[in-house]
Amino acid sequence: MLVHIKELFPENGKNVIGKFAYPAFNTMNLETTLGIISAAEEMNTPVILETSEGAIKYAGLETLYEIMATLAVKAKVPIALHMDHGKNAEQLKRGIELGYSSVMIDHSGLSFEENVRDTKAMVEFAHNEGAWVQGEIGRMRGSEDWVSVSDEEALLTDPSEAKRFFEATGVDTLASSVGTIHGIIKMSGKVQAHVDIERIQKIREAVPNVPLVLHGASGVPDDVIEKAIQAGIAIINIDTELRIGFTHELRVFLASHPDEVDPRKYLNPAIEGVKQVAMKKLKSFKTQNLIKS
Ligand code: G3H
Ligand code: 13P
Ligand code: ZN
Repeated sequence: MLVHIKELFPENGKNVIGKFAYPAFNTMNLETTLGIISAAEEMNTPVILETSEGAIKYAGLETLYEIMATLAVKAKVPIALHMDHGKNAEQLKRGIELGYSSVMIDHSGLSFEENVRDTKAMVEFAHNEGAWVQGEIGRMRGSEDWVSVSDEEALLTDPSEAKRFFEATGVDTLASSVGTIHGIIKMSGKVQAHVDIERIQKIREAVPNVPLVLHGASGVPDDVIEKAIQAGIAIINIDTELRIGFTHELRVFLASHPDEVDPRKYLNPAIEGVKQVAMKKLKSFKTQNLIKS
């Protein structure tokens, strides 16, 4: 069933914070969406489906929304839809009007004042329409849509700044920079990601009532995820590992079936690849069997 993201966080997220984290899985097409929803149904748990600006550029906002919403309505588990890393406020507004229940305005690359100004404006618009807003404070390493953040520029989130940002904007969920890196770069081992658990704890103490979001979580080991959840992370974003699952299974299939030209034949293993990764993550995030019968 398609649900508003707020239904996953009753009582200011007290049902979640410190206990488990909802996955926010990035999708860009029908097949990835099918794999994620199939995993959620098998694990009997809600999930968040999210789309980046890159995914929207690839598939189209309306098309992607309709794929997700149609499959979510039919799903046996609650599915919430979120727009990830939005730099373009007008596109976020169109998404809200279409039916996304949550959007992320990511102006973390701007000054604190500009980030507050733009995030606050989005909160005003979204709340008026009944939608939630995620803001980001601090800058992460890796490549985000349209912004490249080098190691030198990277700024981990200052907990007191997170508090000022939260109080000034009224965001519903908060992304911060706590050491993880976006994208495939850290999977190669060339750059080491770390998760600053103490910093998460301090941010949580500074803003106790807002669900904290961990971005760039592909490749973070399960024991670190467990500590991050205990420290207060309530949503964990995963994109790269799903792409790896999809691509690996596709490659394996095509290597053993070099003459196959029917996409339905070779995309089924890719869907299964996404599903297996998503199920692993749901276990790691302690999210299985959340739905009681
Ligand atoms: O963190 C964001 C997502 O992984 C977006 O990736 O810009 O390649 O769509 P993308
Ligand atoms: P990864 O690609 O590292 O999983 O990061 C995903 C993310 O943060 C999406 O917003
Ligand atoms: Zn991200």
